[in-house]
Amino acid sequence: MKRIMKVESLLLKKIKQHDNKDFEREYPIDFEIVHMASSAAIGRILAKKRGVNSEIASIACILHDYGRIITGLQENHANNAYEPVKELLEECEDFTEEEIENIANAAKNHSSKNVIGTPIEEIVKDADVFDCWQYDIPMNRPEQKIRLEKVIKELI
Ligand SMILES: [Fe+2]
Repeated sequence: MKRIMKVESLLLKKIKQHDNKDFEREYPIDFEIVHMASSAAIGRILAKKRGVNSEIASIACILHDYGRIITGLQENHANNAYEPVKELLEECEDFTEEEIENIANAAKNHSSKNVIGTPIEEIVKDADVFDCWQYDIPMNRPEQKIRLEKVIKELI
């Protein structure tokens, strides 16, 4: 199986395991699933346009909110993704240490929308705001609005 599909399948399996946990989710699990898939598609387009590795960009987008999937909480969800993303990718047994580190760091840093990061990190941040915009998720922070305006210009 291709690595993108493998990661997506494994994440869906993890989502099922976490779905009946006894806590209130800030975002419904159905949103987590569609956001995972559609931000990955946007990430792939951005990667192709920017000359970045589109497979790694897609996978980083797929996993960027894993911290929130596990905890149900928005607060600190980017930081909370770092170790679980590494564990999930290690479980795939298909990624190098360097790839795992790049993807886990993109998840960890994706909430810092006012910071310019690595090309993969930038794709995750931009795909995230563009995808939230598709679902009418309010974005109130100025740095989110600035990013969204830029990525809309790039894609539309
Ligand atoms: Fe997100």
